[in-house]
Amino acid sequence: MCSLDGLFANNKAWSAQRVADDPHYFTELAQQQAPRYLWIGCSDSRVSANEILGLQPGEVFVHRNIANLVVNSDLNCLSVIQFAVEVLKIEHIMVVGHYGCGGVQAVVAQRSVGLADNWLRHVEDIAHKHAEQLDGMKSDAERSTRLCELNVIEQVANVCRTTTLRRAWHKGQRVEVHGLVYGLADGLLRRVGVSANGTQAWAERYRESLQSLHPRNSFEEKTRSRF
Ligand code: CO
Repeated sequence: MCSLDGLFANNKAWSAQRVADDPHYFTELAQQQAPRYLWIGCSDSRVSANEILGLQPGEVFVHRNIANLVVNSDLNCLSVIQFAVEVLKIEHIMVVGHYGCGGVQAVVAQRSVGLADNWLRHVEDIAHKHAEQLDGMKSDAERSTRLCELNVIEQVANVCRTTTLRRAWHKGQRVEVHGLVYGLADGLLRRVGVSANGTQAWAERYRESLQSLHPRNSFEEKTRSRF
C-alpha cells in the first residue's frame, strides 16, 4: 500500500471535476500559460499563492523559498524573475511575506534551525541593519512582526535592483513590484511600503517604504489608546 494513495485519489477526483466543468480545460491549459503575476513568497505550507489570491492554474507564476528572499546570487530566483519578465511578460511582481514566519522568528529568537541558518543569515543581516528600530520594541512578537515587514521592503528593493528589472524599465516595459504581507490569523493580504514601477530610483522608493512603517505604528497606537 503506497502512502501516496490518498493523494492520487484526490488528484483523480480533482481532474475529473475540472473536465466535468469544462471539457476543454486541460487541452487549453496545456497549450500555453499567460500569467499576469509573479508571486515570490515563503515556502510555508499555509501560504499558498493560488488559493490566497483566488486564482486558477495558469494565472500566477510562483517562486517560493524560506522567508521569501531575493538574493542577488541565487540563480534560481533570478532565473524565475528573468523568465517571468522577459518571456511571460508578467505585469506585477509581488513579494509576499507573512506574519508568524518561522524563518523570521528563528532570527529574532537567535534560534538555530540547522543548515538553513546559512540561508537565514540574509534575514539576520536585515535585523542588524535595522537593529535600532527592532531593539526599541517591547517583545519578540513585535520584533518578528516588524522584521517580516522590513524583510519584504528589503526584498522589493532587491527585485528592483536585479539586471532583469533595470533592463525592463530601461526599455520602457510596464512591470510593477509590490510588497505584501499575509496574515495567517485572518487570511488577509496587506500592502507593505510603496510599489515600484521604474519611474523613480529604487533607493527613493526604499526610503519612502521604510518611512511608511513608522507613522502607521504611532497612528495605530494613538487609535488604540483612544478607544
Ligand atoms: Co515563512
